[in-house]
Parts: sequence; structure tokens; C-alpha cells
Amino acid sequence: ATERTLSIIKPDAVAKNAIGEIIARFEKAGLQVVAAKMLHLDEGKAGGFYAEHKERPFFGDLVGFMTSGPVVVQVLEGEGAIAKNRELMGATNPKEAAAGTIRADFAQSIDANAVHGSDSAASAEREIAYFFGADEICPR
Ligand code: CMP
Repeated sequence: ATERTLSIIKPDAVAKNAIGEIIARFEKAGLQVVAAKMLHLDEGKAGGFYAEHKERPFFGDLVGFMTSGPVVVQVLEGEGAIAKNRELMGATNPKEAAAGTIRADFAQSIDANAVHGSDSAASAEREIAYFFGADEICPR
């Protein structure tokens, strides 16, 4: 089925000037960018996005990292977009990410791991609405 998923190009990948190369991978895999914006998240916005991780020991570092520089948030649309994006990204820890995945090619560490992607249909719905109003999504 056609799905939508939320993608974030994280501060490390933006700092490396890799925005275009990462978006090209989505497009080449048949995903369409139907919404996009660049943002510098503050603590409240980053912490709210990752609220489910609030009690985890890495939460402080995660919010610190995600507010360290600008990010690009996008809605990707396509057949099986949620799983397809996760395949393109590779494992959360770049040391475990398969060769040729975005994280294998661009990520430094489990914190600076280049990209985020929604992990389920329910998260995709919540995460898309967290960043985009319906009037900011432009399907073709
Ligand atoms: P992301 O998919 O954006 O979701 C939560 C982020 O927390 C994850 O990518 C990692 O960058 C970061 N993180 C740091 N440590 C861990 C950990 N031990 N397990 C999972 N995620 C972690």
C-alpha cells in the first residue's frame, strides 16, 4: 500500500553537506518527497519528538545532539514507505548497518547516525503531524 513516513536528516549529515545525496537515495528507491523543511530544533521540540525515550539513559545526549545544528524533516511517500525507508537507512547503530545503507555510508556513531525514520504506521502518523500541517503536504 502507499504509505507516508517521517524522515529527519540529522545535524551530522547536514553539517557534512550530505542532504542531497541522502534525498537522492530516497528518490532512486521510488520514494517521493511530499513535504520538506529545514529547522533548528530547540530542546522542547526535540524532547517532545523523542518523548517515548524520556526515561532512557541516552535521552539527554540525544536531545543535545538533535539541537546541535539544523535538520531537514521530510515526509516520504511511496509503496511500503515505512519499511523501505528503514531498509535504506540501515541499523540504528552504524557499526551494525549493512553496507550501502545511509547509516553505513554517512553515520559516525549511534547518536550521530545521520537519519531518523518512523518505525511503524502509528509513529509515522504521530511524527508527521508533529512537524507538518495537512496544508504543508503536497502529494502529486
Ligand atoms: P532514532 O531512530 O532517531 O531514534 C532514537 C535515537 O536515539 C536513535 O536514532 C539513536 O540516534 C539514539 N540512540 C542513542 N543511543 C541509543 C541506544 N542505545 N538505543 C537506541 N537509540 C539510541
